[in-house]
Amino acid sequence: PPLENIINMHDFEIVAKAVLPEKAWAYYSSGSDDEITIRENRTAYQRVWFRPRILRDVSKVDWSCEILGVKSSLPVYISATALGKLGHPDGELCLTRAAANHNVIQMIATLASCSFDEIMNAGAPGQQFFLQLYVNGDREITKKYVQHAEKRGVKGLFITVDAPQLGRREKDMRMKAVDDDAGAEVQKGQNVKKDEGVARAISSFIDPSLSWKDIPWFKQITKMPIILKGIATAEDAVLAYEYGVQGIVLSNHGGRQLDTARSGLEILIEVTDALKARGYFPDPKFEIYVDGGVRRASDVLKAIALGAKAVGVGRPFLYAFCSYGQAGVERAIQILRDEFEMNMRLLGARTISELVPEMVDASSLRAH
Ligand code: FNR
Repeated sequence: PPLENIINMHDFEIVAKAVLPEKAWAYYSSGSDDEITIRENRTAYQRVWFRPRILRDVSKVDWSCEILGVKSSLPVYISATALGKLGHPDGELCLTRAAANHNVIQMIATLASCSFDEIMNAGAPGQQFFLQLYVNGDREITKKYVQHAEKRGVKGLFITVDAPQLGRREKDMRMKAVDDDAGAEVQKGQNVKKDEGVARAISSFIDPSLSWKDIPWFKQITKMPIILKGIATAEDAVLAYEYGVQGIVLSNHGGRQLDTARSGLEILIEVTDALKARGYFPDPKFEIYVDGGVRRASDVLKAIALGAKAVGVGRPFLYAFCSYGQAGVERAIQILRDEFEMNMRLLGARTISELVPEMVDASSLRAH
């Protein structure tokens, strides 16, 4: 269908499923095991209700914000998704170009099909990026990669901490990985197992021995803010704060890692409660993000009302560029903007800072 007929994020998924080669669809859409967590990522948002306020002069509403001190036109960043060229010949560059035109921050994946420098070079002057890091067993490789990113001006290092081993994504595993140009730069020249799906074929370098003890090392090799991506409990959120990182992403990796792990939104309340109890929240030097299952601006507003600084969106932008290239991503951003405008007016919040916990009824999450 023509792009004008796409009116929400779900539409991009329907088109992507129809147009993508089977292998790409399997890799992008799959979750681990029975995909219970993927389902939960959506249903958690549907259990939280709004408590809108009225008569507040909402003629002007503003949903722009700062993420790690970087200005963003939306309280949403493009989360890292690997292997963009499986779905579009320009791969991640579709995201980069669209993000430039709309002032949105892109998180570059270690396993992007396009190399880090290709993506940075495609950026507009002043365009801001984050980097997602998979930590290599060979720390020298990781150190070089991180320091290069810092030199090129990346504004935040998101270390993925929920993937010491890749989840079993069965749809993907039924497809044999084959050599093609979608391969991630980082794994060229490495020996990879090709009989367990795309994901496992490209991830063999990830170090499962990574631990809290490595955090001081990261702080020593870079001045970039460090964010741990894939926190799933209040206990680990507290540890992250005490280890002095600048933020956490409450995430289950889009349902692709531990199946029946909870959704990021569900964790948010226990995390803010635990941090508050210790005097760690709110703290402008420690930001909390949520990702997984965000498909509407209303989802974003719920997470922010409950304490998130911003949210990450993965598959919707991926499906948008697989179906329509850069224009698809721009449309996705535009749709979100329209949704922000309407939802903030109806909710009675003129700015992001007016989104307070009292604007949502999250009692069904608290009951857990
Ligand atoms: C991911 N995600 C991911 N995360 C990460 O830290 N490193 C990675 O290489 C990838 N790769 C990746 C590939 C694909 C195809 C998907 C769908 C996801 C997880 C991603 O950053 C984010 O956590 C989720 O995508 C958020 O969930 P939604 O928005 O896809 O529902």
